Parts: sequence; C-alpha cells; structure tokens
Amino acid sequence: MRLPTPRILSCLAGILLLAACSQSVVPAASVAALDHGARPVASIQELMQLIVDPSADAIWESVSSDTSAEGTVDRQPRSDADWQVIRHHALLLAEGANLLQLESRPVAHHGRTLEDAHVDGVLSPDQVQQKVAADPRAFHAHAQTLQAAAEQTLAAVDRRSIDGLLEAGYRLDRACEGCHLVYWYPGDKRPPAAVSSAPSP
Ligand code: HEC
Repeated sequence: MRLPTPRILSCLAGILLLAACSQSVVPAASVAALDHGARPVASIQELMQLIVDPSADAIWESVSSDTSAEGTVDRQPRSDADWQVIRHHALLLAEGANLLQLESRPVAHHGRTLEDAHVDGVLSPDQVQQKVAADPRAFHAHAQTLQAAAEQTLAAVDRRSIDGLLEAGYRLDRACEGCHLVYWYPGDKRPPAAVSSAPSP
C-alpha cells in the first residue's frame, strides 16, 4: 500500500476539521445536495432478491429445527462467529431499509415480471410503481418498520438472546407482510413464494 502524500494528509485534516464543526459550518443545503446525488442502480425487486430476502432468511433460520430421516437437528447460534453472522445480516437489512427509501428507485427493471405474477391479486410492476408514487411516505413508513425489526435483531444479538432473536424474527415477518399486503399482493391471496419465505411458527 502506498503511503498517503502530504497533500492527501492535509486534505484529510481539513475534512476532519470540517466534520468537527459540521453542525455549525455545513449548511443544510449541502446535506440536501448529498441526498440528491444518490442514484439508485438496483430495482426494488433486486434489493428484495439480493439483500432483504437472503438476510431475513439467515435470521429466521438461525434459530430453527430441521427434521429429516436421521432425526431432528436444532439450530441456534452458539459461537461468537455464529452471532456475528446474524449481526451482519441484521445490518444489511437495516441499511437495505434505507435503500428502499430512495425515491427514484424503479420497482423492477423494464420488462421484468414480479415473482408470482401469474397469481391472482399480484400487482404488475407498473401498478406497484403507481402505488408507491401516490404516497411515497407511506411506503417509507413500511421500510422504517422493517428497519426497526432489524434493529431489534441487532439488540438481541448484543444480548446474545435466543428469545430476543425469535421475537425480532416475528416482528420482521410482520414487517414484510405489512408492506407486501399493500404493494405486492393486496388481494391477500398469498402467493406460494411469500408463504414459503415466512418463518415456521
Ligand atoms: C417497504 C416495503 C417492503 C418491505 C418492508 C418488504 N418488501 Fe419485499 N417486496 C416489496 C415490493 C413492492 C415487492 C414487489 C416488487 C418486487 O418484486 O420487488 C416485493 C417483493 C418481494 C419478493 C419477490 C421479488 C421478486 O423476485 O419479484 C421477495 C422474495 C420479498 N419481497 C421478500 C421480502 C422479505 C423477506 C421481507 C421482509 C424481511 C420484505 N420483502 C419486506 C416491498 C417490501
């Protein structure tokens, strides 16, 4: 690794100084400009497939039991490494919830159909997009509920609490359902994929 040049160091010092007095020095307008510069690349569908769904599954499966011909294996985090994995997934979910709130994000890229598009009561990407655009704050509120459940998971990890993980997992499931029932399959005709992605009771 190359050592930082004096110029970079003095820039860093400047940034630190700015950060130290940021509350009084950085005008609100430049904070807004930062937000403005954020540009979504992934669709909501891709965030679901790549971040939200796998992380939630990892959290739900962290306390579960598998029954097979050989018997039942109970799974729960035991080592620090096990807890760390759950923590990472909870962080991904918590930050994924922020990504869901970037207003110009498309529901799906052009030409993509949503999972279970063939099932009655499932909206098309255009219909979902219209619903989100009609009241973005309502959509954001659902994302914030998801974030709160992810933070509850983080708190359970910090306490090394299995019961806490189960409670947070339940709340997480409610957060997914709460949003999907409005934006994905409002007819409450649950598509099979949604049923299978929920944790076992
Ligand atoms: C803020 C709203 C919101 C929350 C919260 C939310 N979702 Fe979604 N999800 C959507 C929308 C809208 C769709 C339909 C569009 C799409 O497929 O992305 C969707 C679709 C999906 C899909 C189908 C993706 C595909 O291939 O079309 C999966 C899987 C999914 N969500 C999983 C989850 C899980 C698991 C959670 C909770 C941990 C969750 N979602 C929480 C809004 C949300």
